[in-house]
Amino acid sequence: MKMLDQLKTIEEDALATLAAAHDAAGLEGWRVAVLGRKGSLTHALRGLGQLPRDERPAAGAEANRVKDRLEAAFSAHQEVLQQAEIAATLAAEAVDVTLPGRPPSLGRIHPSNAVLRRIYAIFGQMGFQVYDAPDVELDEINFQLLNIPPDHPARDMQDTFYTKDPAVLLRTHTSPGQIRAMRQFAPAPLRVILPGKCFRYEQVTARSEFMFHQVEGLAVGKGITMADLKGTLQEFANQLYGEGRQLRFRCSYFPFVEPGVEVDMDCILCGGRGCRLCKYSGWLEISGAGMVHPVVLRNGGYDPAIYTGFAFGMGPERITMLKHSIDDIRYFFSNDVRFLEQF
Ligand code: DAH
Repeated sequence: MKMLDQLKTIEEDALATLAAAHDAAGLEGWRVAVLGRKGSLTHALRGLGQLPRDERPAAGAEANRVKDRLEAAFSAHQEVLQQAEIAATLAAEAVDVTLPGRPPSLGRIHPSNAVLRRIYAIFGQMGFQVYDAPDVELDEINFQLLNIPPDHPARDMQDTFYTKDPAVLLRTHTSPGQIRAMRQFAPAPLRVILPGKCFRYEQVTARSEFMFHQVEGLAVGKGITMADLKGTLQEFANQLYGEGRQLRFRCSYFPFVEPGVEVDMDCILCGGRGCRLCKYSGWLEISGAGMVHPVVLRNGGYDPAIYTGFAFGMGPERITMLKHSIDDIRYFFSNDVRFLEQF
């Protein structure tokens, strides 16, 4: 019977070419060629109607069997190809979860803050509290109440940034915090350090920035003398730079202290013999200081006939520069990680 032979040939050919289909395109080509509207099997099925009546049932049954068989083979082969494709993708895009990860880079304490923390700890042991005073200050407190009236020549050395209100400026030093602390505590005895940012309107160079830190110290009470100032700063120098530091107090002038001094320490690099760091003097300047001026004490609310006090002001960037032989203050605030990572 011709029809049965034809179906058998179609089935065998189709199964053979299906096995040769290796991808989605080949599979689709096979489906169109065999099961599609103009496909070989479809064509044979259309021929069933022309068969003699008695041959039709057997041929029809066989045709349905072949159609089911080919459709099932198609689905099975499609499944095989899809699985192969998934496996290939997984192999190509595999992540090796056993590789060590990239460590996140950790931030660190800025060198200015690191020294500030050391300074807090050292003065904290000596009973000094940290007192916060504002960066934006009144002209009155930054200058006038510290014995620097509007026409005073000391103002020339501390030009600053002003706001639209001429009475309000960015503080040029931490000394105005003295007035704020005294006014809060008077007439109780007081021991504070006042750390923070200061601002100067001046050219930025290796030695001067328009913004920097200072730490002010202030002690007020009954019977405080210059010996207390010397002892306090000596202890500070010993703790920060090592035991046995030599200090030298030179007469100087600051409007808010009387007497006023500049405090030098024997050079940490050469120990006093003279070198480039100390400009061959043997000494490094570490602080301005003095006994609080009676006018300033009174402005802070203390009776200068009963109370005395000492004050000092130092720059933590300068201290850090000395400690690590840093030759340019601009490194501190230019955010270059190559510099910051070294600390
Ligand atoms: N305020 C001064 C300055 O910025 C530093 C200073 C000197 C502070 C003497 C003091 C002091 O408390 O007694 O130049």
